[in-house]
Amino acid sequence: MASYLVTGGAGFIGSHVVEALVARGERVRVVDNLSTGRSENLVHIDGVDLVIGDLADPAVANGAVEGVDYVVHLAALPSVPGSIKDPLAWNHANVTATLSLLVAAQRCAVKRFVFASSSSVYGNVATLPVTEDMLPEPISPYALQKLTGERYLRLFYDLHGLETVSVRYFNVFGPRQDPASAYSGVISLFARCLIEERAPTIHGDGEQTRDFTYVGNVVDGTLRACVAPGAAGQVCNVSCGGRVSLNALFRTMRAMTESRVEPEYTEPRVGDVRDSYADITRARELLGYEPAVFLEEGLETTIAWCRLRAS
Ligand code: NAD
Ligand code: UD1
Repeated sequence: MASYLVTGGAGFIGSHVVEALVARGERVRVVDNLSTGRSENLVHIDGVDLVIGDLADPAVANGAVEGVDYVVHLAALPSVPGSIKDPLAWNHANVTATLSLLVAAQRCAVKRFVFASSSSVYGNVATLPVTEDMLPEPISPYALQKLTGERYLRLFYDLHGLETVSVRYFNVFGPRQDPASAYSGVISLFARCLIEERAPTIHGDGEQTRDFTYVGNVVDGTLRACVAPGAAGQVCNVSCGGRVSLNALFRTMRAMTESRVEPEYTEPRVGDVRDSYADITRARELLGYEPAVFLEEGLETTIAWCRLRAS
């Protein structure tokens, strides 16, 4: 049995990581300030040590890593538009907290530190799919903050020998993604609108594309990154390895929900990347990763969860 710290474990992706670790019989501590996460996301999981605190506080970070083998650092404010509105608050959560945790992890000599980075670091690239050796061109504070986190991880590996891995997630969706906030991921927002027969909003012409990735796939990629030999110091895409436009996504979800609503088109969102689609060769080679759940199956599961929640 190994001991894992999952930061942001009360959030959407974090709660799935915790669930998978507990199912394997690992010991799990969660540290979360409940800014976007909810303790209810963990109530169905036995034996989790939940600590409420802000990881940007060095005392919280030091306590968090004590006695831990692996750190899975998911705590962050994930919204791109939110980071444009309030870059300081987003920087606190996405950069200061990451640095504070790295310092603590180095002091405690943890075995490995895995960081949830983002496809947004690539910005608007000239060629798709994106590979990790392309030059990142962040176009929002959130993307820049994630890239800064990656660079800090690499520095701590080079300077101190702390084993670090950054996994770049691509538009993750699934049960427990909270549709309550306007900052939520688009699939959770579409699902809620369609179930309630309300018109969802599409920003721009809807022809922007995303490599939507079911949450179970990123949990698998992340846990592989904790132990894969040869991954230390690396950055790695984790996605489904395909892309779909917002218009096509909407049509698929409308058919699945048997809804008749039409979307409302509004202005494109500032800071929005036009297209996002990953080459996952490195994840395959380095982590032995292979996506197991594809878009349609993931959407069915997510819509079923949303229906249950709405009832
Ligand atoms: P989420 O908002 O559900 O989870 C983030 C968690 O971090 C929340 O529980 C929140 O309360 C906690 N948190 C925030 N600031 C904190 C702080 N200072 N100290 C302690 N806890 C703090 O978001 P999510 O979608 O589950 O994202 C998890 C991670 O994955 C984030 O790092 C995000 O940037 C990254 N990511 C997400 C996606 C996606 O599509 N959802 C894609 C790429 C990367
Ligand atoms: C998402 C994640 C971010 C992650 C990034 C890359 C969230 C909240 N954001 O950002 O953490 O790093 O993927 O993996 O999980 N849209 C609409 N209507 C809506 C909402 C969104 O048309 O109601 C459009 C957006 O303009 C965008 C696309 O849908 O073009 C996706 O938006 P969103 O789900 O917010 O994700 P990203 O900004 O791509």
